[in-house]
Amino acid sequence: MPELLIRAMRLADLPGVFALQCRAHPADYHEPLEALASRLRAGHAHCFVAECVGELLGYVFAHPWSGEPPPLHVPLPPSRPPDHVFLHDLAVCQASRRRAAGGRLHDAVLESAVNAGLADMQLVAVGAARVFWLRKGFVELPQARLHPAYGDAVLMRRELDLRDSAARTDLNQ
Ligand SMILES: CC(C)(COP(=O)(O)OP(=O)(O)OC[C@H]1O[C@@H](n2cnc3c(N)ncnc32)[C@H](O)[C@@H]1OP(=O)(O)O)[C@@H](O)C(=O)NCCC(=O)NCCS
Repeated sequence: MPELLIRAMRLADLPGVFALQCRAHPADYHEPLEALASRLRAGHAHCFVAECVGELLGYVFAHPWSGEPPPLHVPLPPSRPPDHVFLHDLAVCQASRRRAAGGRLHDAVLESAVNAGLADMQLVAVGAARVFWLRKGFVELPQARLHPAYGDAVLMRRELDLRDSAARTDLNQ
């Protein structure tokens, strides 16, 4: 079976990422290209894609952040000095799910966060993905305030151990 490759996301990936986003999420969560591009600019060290023989199978957007989760659908506002990595979105195309692509994209962000010295990861879990995040060691913060655009979603957090920084630069080992 051809190998799944995890690599840094590039600007040229955005049209394919946008299309995958629109297939993976309900319409209320579809974000315009300029909103996605701003997250890639802010988080270029923390955004990755999964591909197999050149075909895009999954993506993750994450960026350094501080405070409440940013509003959806609009370009990212400037951040105060960051104290965590905010994992904005992770999606894998339907046909490739449950084959560890999502887990490997998550691991890539975890590693980039540790390498950036940010000992905290946060995200807003939507729908059935909550189970995936619980399996990854995230805990729910049910009292946290969320922008209404997040709908029926919950903030989750995972504290990282910076001693885990193996400075592993090859994401595919
Ligand atoms: C969530 C998502 C990214 C997971 O990707 P994936 O490639 O299927 O994840 P993995 O194969 O690495 O799954 C690892 C484990 O997470 C759990 N898991 C993953 N998806 C799950 C689901 N839908 N329901 C329950 N458990 C799930 C399983 O325990 C799985 O291990 P297993 O297959 O050995 O049981 C994918 O389902 C997806 O794209 N969903 C739609 C978009 C979305 O909701 N993204 C999250 C935004 S917060």
